[in-house]
Amino acid sequence: MTTKQPAHFDPDKPRVLVTGAAGLLGRHVVRELLRKGLQVRGLDLRQAEEPIDWQTGDITDLDCLRRAVEGCFAVLHIAARPNIWAGDGDDILRINTIGAWNAFRAGEEAGIRRVVFCSSDSVAGYTVREGAMVPPDYVPVDLAHPLRATDPYALSKVLGEDIGRSFALRGLEVIALRTVFVAYPEMEGEIRARAQDPEHYTGRKAGGPSSAGGGPLFNHIDPRDLARAFWLALQMQAPGTPACPFEAFYLAARDTLAPEPTVQRLERILGRSVDVKNPELYRQNPYASLYDLRPAQERLGFIPEFSQRSLIE
Ligand SMILES: NC(=O)c1ccc[n+]([C@@H]2O[C@H](COP(=O)([O-])OP(=O)(O)OC[C@H]3O[C@@H](n4cnc5c(N)ncnc54)[C@H](O)[C@@H]3O)[C@@H](O)[C@H]2O)c1
Repeated sequence: MTTKQPAHFDPDKPRVLVTGAAGLLGRHVVRELLRKGLQVRGLDLRQAEEPIDWQTGDITDLDCLRRAVEGCFAVLHIAARPNIWAGDGDDILRINTIGAWNAFRAGEEAGIRRVVFCSSDSVAGYTVREGAMVPPDYVPVDLAHPLRATDPYALSKVLGEDIGRSFALRGLEVIALRTVFVAYPEMEGEIRARAQDPEHYTGRKAGGPSSAGGGPLFNHIDPRDLARAFWLALQMQAPGTPACPFEAFYLAARDTLAPEPTVQRLERILGRSVDVKNPELYRQNPYASLYDLRPAQERLGFIPEFSQRSLIE
């Protein structure tokens, strides 16, 4: 049972709405919330097996989201086209952006106080090896680093965050979780295949749902840790400032799935030295993630417990 009630828990509206509840991440989040004793409604295009209150429907339909938020005290907006391979750019941009707009709007209309938005580290602009990619100005990439989306998926997450921030300026509490590539059990074959020949891996060699991701630095996060981050985002007190209760966090495992230490690998790929803002981080853990995880630890209480590095070693 729940040891601590989430912020704004309302016994008259006891449910949490999870959009994308039938997806890979959504199902981990649903199971985490059920373990904590919460009642969950899942909205997705299809229904999965978890024993929750299911609603099937499309996030691009505002009325569908209006029905889904009834009786809920919070929204975890996870549904999306989840990467640049999930359709053409028009669909990814439209579905993810309109879906986010509808989730925030329906939440605000229903008097919900908090929406947690599943964002992506792709907002920083250094996640997809193909095509244009802008290297970071420094490492670890922190919340002050500029956002530089270069593809429709990353742009949809920047726009989703911007929409969330604009609702926050009107009073809605919004937390954006910028997760890196999620190392689901379903992705293990791909992660192993990439580790065998990292320079020539072109993706989907082992029947996984998508290519092993994480950008050139092979960042990753375990879905159990990420699901816990959603729970922590429900519990967190007062995100952002009173004038704009919006806060974003980068989330990753402590280490990458790359064969080389992080700074060395980045310098080799870029062919130049990089500005390392926190050398101690990479001295203590040469394989530490590209991202600064301190705000997630200090503000959200998030400490990653799992790493899938054993898959490649
Ligand atoms: N998988 C990763 O490595 C990764 C990394 C960063 C961020 N994310 C984000 O995590 C979230 C979950 O992704 P996932 O890995 O579980 O992928 P997934 O494809 O398994 O889950 C996405 C879910 O959203 C649902 N969905 C898609 N379009 C919808 C629509 N129009 N209406 C209703 N439901 C719709 C799908 O049916 C699916 O169940 C997404 O927001 C994705 O952008 C994923």
